[in-house]
Amino acid sequence: MGIPIILSRLLVLSFALVAAETTFSTKGSTKSYPVSLNGIDLLTASAKTISSALANGTVTSLDLVDAYIQRLAANDHEGLTLRSIIEIAPTAHEIARELDAERANGTVRSAIHGLPIVVKDAYNTDPKLGMNSTAGSFALLQGSHAKSDAFVVKKLRDAGAIILGKANQDEWSGQRGTNNGSAWSARGGRMSAAYVEGGFAAGGDPGGSSGGPAVAVSAGFAAASLGTDTEGSIIGPSSRAALFGLRPSTGMTSRTGVIPISSSQDTTGPLAKSVWDIAAILEVMAAHDPEDVYSAAAEPFRYQNYTQFLDPNGFEGLRIGIPREPFWNQTQYGYRSAINPAVNDTLEKLRSLGAEIIDPVVMPNADRWRYEFVGGAVRNTAGRAQIRELSSFYLRFHIVHD
Ligand SMILES: *[C@@H]1O[C@H](CO)[C@@H](O)[C@H](O)[C@H]1NC(C)=O
Ligand SMILES: *[C@@H]1O[C@H](CO)[C@@H](O)[C@H](O)[C@H]1NC(C)=O
Ligand SMILES: *[C@@H]1O[C@H](CO)[C@@H](O)[C@H](O)[C@H]1NC(C)=O
Ligand SMILES: *[C@@H]1O[C@H](CO)[C@@H](O)[C@H](O)[C@H]1NC(C)=O
Ligand SMILES: *[C@@H]1O[C@H](CO)[C@@H](O)[C@H](O)[C@H]1NC(C)=O
Ligand SMILES: *[C@@H]1O[C@H](CO)[C@@H](O)[C@H](O)[C@H]1NC(C)=O
Ligand SMILES: *[C@@H]1O[C@H](CO)[C@@H](O)[C@H](O)[C@H]1NC(C)=O
Repeated sequence: MGIPIILSRLLVLSFALVAAETTFSTKGSTKSYPVSLNGIDLLTASAKTISSALANGTVTSLDLVDAYIQRLAANDHEGLTLRSIIEIAPTAHEIARELDAERANGTVRSAIHGLPIVVKDAYNTDPKLGMNSTAGSFALLQGSHAKSDAFVVKKLRDAGAIILGKANQDEWSGQRGTNNGSAWSARGGRMSAAYVEGGFAAGGDPGGSSGGPAVAVSAGFAAASLGTDTEGSIIGPSSRAALFGLRPSTGMTSRTGVIPISSSQDTTGPLAKSVWDIAAILEVMAAHDPEDVYSAAAEPFRYQNYTQFLDPNGFEGLRIGIPREPFWNQTQYGYRSAINPAVNDTLEKLRSLGAEIIDPVVMPNADRWRYEFVGGAVRNTAGRAQIRELSSFYLRFHIVHD
């Protein structure tokens, strides 16, 4: 376990409220990197903690950008070679300085003002930020560039977030082809989970297709990230990286300017280290976008403020159904035996918090689910049909041909 070695050192050091950064080097890398910034542990700090450290002056956005970039330099393509990031924004320092100056001047745009985040490479970013937008593919690298920020990227930047980099992903969000599978793109290479010693080859597949956004946050390279999800691409990598991830209902958050798969299934959402982080980012993302045809239908269900719903007693009275068949069927899904007791422990925990667990819930059409999921034969028919038209639309309206 690569990272826990760092963690054990951190435990010794995290008491120190130091003026300068504490630095380390990792096995396999000669580069040193900050583990703690004025007492803020960059590996474990949630966006909420970082946000409050920015608010009370413990750290600046410029400090954070510097520290995250040093951490990336030491462990993303060297050291642990996690390969979570494809590009770092050459403008990040300058933007951090501007946002620090604004804060010093009394303007705080939102709870995420000055927070460095990374976005999956499938998100368009304004070429003025100095980065390409390619979904990990060389096909989109030369001869064209993104027209502007994706709708939700603009929302986040207007709220004061710093787009620190573009995260690696399954190329074309897994639609490139069936060879080379998960956690790989031609531009970004093979990603590895941060918490499995030996990397990808030793079982450290971080999942996909938003593997880079998950690995980057779990390794303390950014405060939070954005992924996209068509059928599990945020949820899967979040769970493998011990993060919170939200797949908002399709339409709740805009897909405009995001390299597409399916109009009826794609969605955009955050990955982060606490539920508050998710709520604070969702709050900024969840806005009506007239260019996204699914957006208007979600309007009655959108709120201006999601952190108001964070309630420690929130499980009280919640009814949760457990469809043991087919989803917990080991023959079909090959779950490792370690997972079932962990699931059961979690259900006990939810029960103790006041949730009503209905176990099992019998799904009348479970056979059909089985057929659809096992071979992957039918599950994505709609997406396969929609990607053709949506890709043409994206290439026509969201990139500029040089
Ligand atoms: C500032 O906020 C950070 C993060 O919550 C906290 O660790 C630190 O103690 C706070 N410092 C002061 C002076 O309030
Ligand atoms: C600071 O605020 C003043 C008054 O609102 C404004 O004129 C100035 O441009 C601001 N400076 C920065 C760096 O935001
Ligand atoms: C964007 O791609 C071009 C190659 O087309 C490369 O020169 C440039 O460095 C890339 N930008 C970043 C920030 O990596
Ligand atoms: C598959 O990924 C490996 C890196 O793990 C790379 O060396 C190889 O070129 C890739 N193969 C194809 C067909 O893209
Ligand atoms: C959202 O609601 C919470 C709890 O009422 C409050 O603390 C927070 O300031 C609100 N956020 C915004 C952006 O108004
Ligand atoms: C689990 O799935 C297998 C294969 O489809 C099936 O034969 C078996 O009956 C299922 N188990 C239960 C308990 O339904
Ligand atoms: C988990 O709970 C279910 C339902 O009560 C039970 O059938 C199963 O054996 C349990 N699994 C483990 C590993 O405890």
